Amino acid sequence: MKGKILVTGGTGYIGSHTVVELQNAGFEVVIVDDLSNSTEVVVDQIEQITGIRPEFHRFNLQNLELLEKLFEHSKVIDAVIHFAAFKAVGESVAKPLQYYRNNLLSLINLFDCMERFQVKNLVFSSSCTVYGQPDQLPVTEQTPRQTAESPYGNTKIVCEDIIRDNTRANPEIHTIALRYFNPIGAHPSALIGELPNGVPNNLVPFVTQTAAGIREQLQVFGDDYNTPDGSCIRDYINVVDLAKAHVISIERLLNQQNEGPFEFFNVGTGNGVSVLGLLHAFERATGQKVNYKIVGRRAGDIEQIYADTTKANKVLGWKSDVSLEDTLLSAWNWEKKIRGMS
Ligand code: WQD
Repeated sequence: MKGKILVTGGTGYIGSHTVVELQNAGFEVVIVDDLSNSTEVVVDQIEQITGIRPEFHRFNLQNLELLEKLFEHSKVIDAVIHFAAFKAVGESVAKPLQYYRNNLLSLINLFDCMERFQVKNLVFSSSCTVYGQPDQLPVTEQTPRQTAESPYGNTKIVCEDIIRDNTRANPEIHTIALRYFNPIGAHPSALIGELPNGVPNNLVPFVTQTAAGIREQLQVFGDDYNTPDGSCIRDYINVVDLAKAHVISIERLLNQQNEGPFEFFNVGTGNGVSVLGLLHAFERATGQKVNYKIVGRRAGDIEQIYADTTKANKVLGWKSDVSLEDTLLSAWNWEKKIRGMS
């Protein structure tokens, strides 16, 4: 094995796809997840895809005692990928203390254990939400961060600051933060994918559930923005491409190729796609019509954001590969699979 990687939040949407790519790359994986936004069945599905069953521990990282026991039990952990966080934007507005406690304390406990057990490498799941509504587009890693639109977004900003300040105090722990744009799609096997709890907040699962007849109609939140077709623009990144960026980051750290103890990269396609543009791409890719209606703007939405991916392409040596249409088709195949549709 090339090394043992602890993946927190490893049964989640992006975490599970990253576990698959880590195993494909020859790493041994240990998952810790509290299953607050996923199910243990995902461990079976990962095993079905790769033939290797990752070790799985169920608990929340706020429990420092259990986390210490896991580090003791695991003997040598070569690196950690930290996904485990609460991430529903709307819920974070209603329950800010729960979000700050969980998302910040989890990272702090993790750093405590990494320091105590001499684990030197961390890949952190960050988000383009740290940029707010950028003044200039596309956003580079030098684009100033702005006040987040939600407590969830602010936990990402504060976590990056915790990493920055902890790195100053403990420079022997090296971190790469990946700022995701909008992750979408599913594994080509359709064995793992996005499984939102209840009514989806995010666009693509709502699109696929509408196409599957589970939702009556998609509401498009506004077509009066200052964009070509009036709807909001985002940078939709294929989840498997995103997962591969984590493996490349782990290898960069293990091979000590990182330039400094704290690096961060925008992980997007570099292409801005509007909501209506995505709908048309979905219909082209799948042949499925989506029943939608233009309604008013959603509070907190920014008008447009998409990445300048030069740094990830040239320094990290990663670029997105799967097209928007193929990604949307993978999301549709996943939806049909979980609904037992042919
Ligand atoms: C995309 C576009 C909506 C649903 C959020 C978080 C971000 C990350 C991804 C966690 C927007 C429009 C959506 C719908 C719509 N989350 N939309 N009808 O808001 O860009 O990003 O999710 O890591 O941190 O901020 O993603 O998919 O919710 O929305 O018209 O039913 O689709 O207005 O323009 P968003 P989204």
